[in-house]
Amino acid sequence: MEEYSDKVKDHYMNPRNTGIIENASGEGTVGNPVCGDIMTIYIDVDENEVLTDVKFSTFGCGAAIATSSMITEMAVGMTVDEAYNITRNDVAEELDGLPPIKMHCSNLAADALQAAIDNYRYRKENGEI
Ligand code: FES
Repeated sequence: MEEYSDKVKDHYMNPRNTGIIENASGEGTVGNPVCGDIMTIYIDVDENEVLTDVKFSTFGCGAAIATSSMITEMAVGMTVDEAYNITRNDVAEELDGLPPIKMHCSNLAADALQAAIDNYRYRKENGEI
């Protein structure tokens, strides 16, 4: 059995930024084809294209919770373009590593954030926000 880093355990036990954002600038939901778990990320974006709030809710495992919690902290304060480029490896690195068998779980966080940004861009282009 591979050990989780202290940071992973901390974010799992005390997840940051859980919940939903009412009237969010964008939201994205993805499913993990490997395990069937589901993740939604909500973002608020200001007039300078900076993420001011990011929240997540998930039916995911502990690693999914930890990676989502981590990515919300990383993304706040970034521009949407910067946040779009966060990879699952960036998140895993920031958590001081994930067991290889759990790397697929970190796809959920990175993919859901990208989906939320796609949704934000679509809504902006269509004058919805
Ligand atoms: Fe499903 Fe980790 S086992 S997200």
